[in-house]
Formats: sequence, structure tokens, C-alpha cells
Amino acid sequence: MLLTETLKAAWYALNVALAVSSVTIDDLDSFISSQRSASKELLLANIGPNFPGAAPGVVIASPSTVNPNYLYTWIRDSSLVFQVLIDQYTSGVDKSLRPLIEQWIATQSKLQHVSNPSGNISTGGLGEPKFMINVTAFTDSWGRPQNDCPAERLSAIITFANYLLSTGNKTYVKETLWPIVKLDLDYVAQRWNTTSFDLWEEVNSASFFTTAYQHKALRMGTSFGKAIGQNVDDWQTQADNVLCFLQSFYTSTGYILSNTGGGRSGLDANSVLASIHTWDPEAGCDSTTFQPCSDKSLSNLHALVESFRPIYAINSGKAENEALAIGRYKEDVYFGGNPWYLTTLAVAEQLYYALASYSVQKKIAITSISLPFFQSLAPPNVTLTQGSFASGSKVYSSITAAMKRLCRWYTPSNGSLSEQYDKNSGTPLSAVDLTWSFASFITMIESPFTVSRPSDADCQVDFSVNATTVFGQNVYIVGSIPALANWDTSKALLMDSSKYPIWTLSLNLPIWTSIEFKHIRKDTDGTVEWESDPNRLIQTPGSGTVNEDDVWR
Ligand code: NOJ
Ligand code: NOJ
Repeated sequence: MLLTETLKAAWYALNVALAVSSVTIDDLDSFISSQRSASKELLLANIGPNFPGAAPGVVIASPSTVNPNYLYTWIRDSSLVFQVLIDQYTSGVDKSLRPLIEQWIATQSKLQHVSNPSGNISTGGLGEPKFMINVTAFTDSWGRPQNDCPAERLSAIITFANYLLSTGNKTYVKETLWPIVKLDLDYVAQRWNTTSFDLWEEVNSASFFTTAYQHKALRMGTSFGKAIGQNVDDWQTQADNVLCFLQSFYTSTGYILSNTGGGRSGLDANSVLASIHTWDPEAGCDSTTFQPCSDKSLSNLHALVESFRPIYAINSGKAENEALAIGRYKEDVYFGGNPWYLTTLAVAEQLYYALASYSVQKKIAITSISLPFFQSLAPPNVTLTQGSFASGSKVYSSITAAMKRLCRWYTPSNGSLSEQYDKNSGTPLSAVDLTWSFASFITMIESPFTVSRPSDADCQVDFSVNATTVFGQNVYIVGSIPALANWDTSKALLMDSSKYPIWTLSLNLPIWTSIEFKHIRKDTDGTVEWESDPNRLIQTPGSGTVNEDDVWR
């Protein structure tokens, strides 16, 4: 299970720079590099004792104390945050994190023993989602238990333990880590088949995210237990049972019914979070575990993304192959129901992981299930078909280029990482500096294939125009996209006159894009003569080279 250390090292070593359509590459590069280090700093500032009043190793959800009050520690947020820090430690990105990781684990062990409204250590207390930041119980009413919590915690601890085993540190692993892990593992093995509150803490029901995480945890527990000489039969059996149950969430609707409790449609970012958090690079595009590139997960992704198009004003007017703002689920009313940073980032992360798998497999398979997803990447005049497309083929390069472009569009280009952003204006909303949002930004940005310049999202267009000119006059191209100077005639692109009266110019332009343009004549004094209306229109292909031969009009 999980990343091989080499793949991880390569992944973290990648230097990242993304571009979105409306932001220049330089703006975005500098935003990302500042946001990346800011995210890490702010994330660490939300952990005790850095954060005043929080016990050592306690992760606060957010410093916000009113509307909403998030000054508590949630096992889920805390485990997902430490999964990121542990990945950074074990992959060698940040070796200074070790004392903090050990503090977090020690605190988790204490929390396991705190009796709380869900029960004590042996009667269900391990399912408690939320504690006070001084490591005592939170006793007000709440949606409890939340059975994803022990699964997330044990997965993070096992990642750390596996690393220590590989460096020969068996004693600490067996004597300190194993007993903590075993408590959570037994809880998961015994209770995966009972309902609990979902990760959004709202409905007591079966929930895809919870089940998927439990499956991952039981598998990790089985191989870890084996490695240190434990009897793992029960966990193994339960892991098989959980995997079987997991299949029941996917239906003929073409998407995962993540959680239908409370009358919801079931389309929920719950499923995307599950897919990215249970990504296993060695599992390829396996659809039984809903890997990021599996046909079922991609079909689900497409349906989920589309469900947010009509409900947020900031999504209106976007083309089918552009990025949208993504919330938890469309029926959400919390703070009025808005997009969230961590769910929007999760979409980019799923696409990145899918790209990573394609590049390992050197092919893309399009099935009848995933066809609608792939078709949504293409412009209306391009029709994709089912089949297997090897790297190097036109379809492969067009699809991967379109997916990379989409990822860049999903990267926020400004803003503090609060919990939500306004569905009308895009401004940050709800809890400020949400620790989980920072963690999501870091994992998204450090994903494999978080590629830099969009060169591979370009195709070549060879323009020519038959145009006579008087002495001193030249012919240029200007058009509707940044690469064609956004209609700014002072920055129009000069064509080559060596084949006069045919003027030529080859340009790399973004794939699968509708572009309007015109030729202009410019005099030495800057006077501009435009071609007559209407604007010329080209639709660039997904890859390769095309000719655009015109006669001045
Ligand atoms: C607080 C929970 O944390 C949040 O997920 C939920 O949506 C609101 N309460 C409303 O139930
Ligand atoms: C509300 C979210 O729904 C839940 O998933 C999270 O654990 C808490 N807020 C704390 O961030």
C-alpha cells in the first residue's frame, strides 16, 4: 500500500509552478511559491504549543472562536494534517518534523484514554470526533461518533511506523506505536458495519468516505501487523468484507452515492476526498478501490463537478471543459452553502493522481463508464471514443494536456485559505486559516505531475495570409487570447515576409480552445488597418500541428 519512497521523493522534489487562464504565469508562480511556504508556516502555527493554549501536538481546526467557533481539535482534521507532515518527514522533505510527530502521537494516545460522550476506551470512545484543545472531553451535544476518525489516525501512525521499521527502529514501533494502532484497528474492525456520523458531521448514515478510509486502514493494519509478527487474520477478513460493502455505493446512476442520509442526492465531495486519500500508485486504475483514474471515480467526478455548476453564481458562464468552484454537496446550507477550498483542491488532486497513473501505465483507457468524463474535457466539435490510447498517440497527449490545464485552473490564485469562499463573489468565508485547508493546498501542490509551464498543453498553428503591402507596412496577427496579445494592436505578432505576398507565422497556442483573431496591417508610424469583419475563428486541436491559410479581406 501507499507510495514507494522513491516515487514520493521524486514527487516532493518537483518544483512547482502552475498557470491559470486569467492569471499570468509569473503571478501564479509567485503566488504559489509564497502560498506554499505560507501554508506550511500557518499550518504549524495551528499546532500546540505553537498555538497558545493548545497542548503539545494538538492541532486546532482554526483560530476562529466565533461564527464559527473552531477552537477545538478534531481527530479527522488533525490526522489528515499529520498525514501530510508524516509524508514530508518520511520522504525526507522535512526532517525537522520528527519531535512534533512524536508529540502528536503521544497526544493521540492520551486522547484515546479520555472518556467522552461516545464512551470510554473500550465502549466506543475511540469514535469521538472532537475534543477540547487541553486534551479533555467536549461534552456538548454533537454528531457522534464519527467512525472515519480512528481509521485516519491509524493510517497516519502506520505511515510513520513503516518508515521507522525500514530504518531498523523496531523497539519504539512495537512498544509504543503498535498498542496505539491496535486500539484503533480493533475499533474499525468491530464497527465498520454500524452507521456513524459522516465527515461533515451532519447525518448518521453509511458514508462512502468513512468506508473507504476504513478499508485502507484495515489493509495497512494487516500488512503492518504482519511485519511485526502479529496475528492479522481478523483484520484481513474484515478488510475483504469492507471492500465488498464499498462496491454498494456505486450505482447505475454513474456516480458514487456517497451519503444519501437526510434526503441528499448522494453526490458529494466525500467521494473525491476518499479517492485521493486512498490513492495507491501500485493499484493502477483499479475500480474496486475507486482509484483516482478508475472509470467509476472519473465518471463520479464529472457528475459531482456538474452538480455545482447551476448553484454557484461564480460558476456561471464557464465552459464545460473549465474548472468550477466545488463545495461539499449541492444541498448544503451551512453558511448558506458555498464552495470550500479543500473540496475544490481535492478535484485538482484527483486529476493529478490520475495523470501520475497514466504516465506509469503509458496509456489511457476510456470505457463506456468514463467516456462522459473524457468527453467533457474536449471541445464540442471533438468526439472521443472508447478504447486504449498509448502515450504518444494524439488522444493520449490531448487528454493529458487538457487535464493538466484543468488542474492549473483549479489552483486558487489568491486568497487566504479559510474554510469556504463565497458562491457569488469568491471572497473567503467561515473559519479563517483552516488547518485542513492548508494541508490540502500542500498535498495538491506537491502532487506528482504538478507540472510547470503549459508547453505540453499547446499545439502548433502555422498561419499564413496572402496580403499585399506598401513600402514600410507589415502584416501582424492579433486575437482574443493572451498568446495573441488580447486584441492589443501595439503588441500584435509580426508575420514573416520572406514568401511575400504570403506572410507566415508559426505559433504554439493552447489546445482545444476557440480563438478569434484578425490580421492587421501596420505602418511605420503605427497606423493600424484591420481586416474586415467578422473576426476569424479557429478551434485548436488537442495536439499536433494545423494550418490556417487565409487571404486578406
Ligand atoms: C458544524 C459542522 O462542523 C458542520 O459540518 C455542519 O455543516 C454544521 N455544524 C451544521 O450542521
Ligand atoms: C466542519 C467540517 O464539516 C468537518 O469535516 C470538520 O472536521 C470540522 N468542520 C472542523 O474543521
